[in-house]
Amino acid sequence: MPCRATILHLAALALLSACGPEPEAAADGAVLYARHCAACHGASATGGAAAGAPDLTRIAARNGGVFPETRVMSVIDGYTRSDQHGARMPEFGALLADDIMLWQPPEGGAAVPTPRALVALAAYLETLQR
Ligand code: HEC
Repeated sequence: MPCRATILHLAALALLSACGPEPEAAADGAVLYARHCAACHGASATGGAAAGAPDLTRIAARNGGVFPETRVMSVIDGYTRSDQHGARMPEFGALLADDIMLWQPPEGGAAVPTPRALVALAAYLETLQR
């Protein structure tokens, strides 16, 4: 029933925006981070473990205090690369290949089918911002 779906969708959106990163997703993201990211960005994500790997706890600070969730996700999945210091971050195609969920971009618009691991990593990084 389209009407009920819309109401549920709106309720979910309201919850998401009221609570910030989902704690469960952030916990999954912490595990993924330790396994795939800490070697370069450091165990506490403050960067510098590999040449050119930026401090990931200051992403919001570098962006006027707003965590740019969509851009962060696109960097992780390899869609966007800044190529700072000529260094290249690996792409995580295999990690991100399955387990797709519907993710709501904070900018609004339609929900987008997105790898759950990507949403989890972004949620975890958002909890680290200082
Ligand atoms: C081999 C080292 C390496 C690994 C592993 C790595 N990164 Fe990176 N990361 C980099 C480098 C170097 C940059 C900066 C240059 C670029 O964007 O390619 C970067 C940039 C980023 C940025 C952009 C930061 C900004 O402010 O624009 C994010 C977000 C990020 N990494 C997250 C992650 C996550 C999450 C993982 C694990 C899934 C990860 N990285 C794994 C080296 C790495």
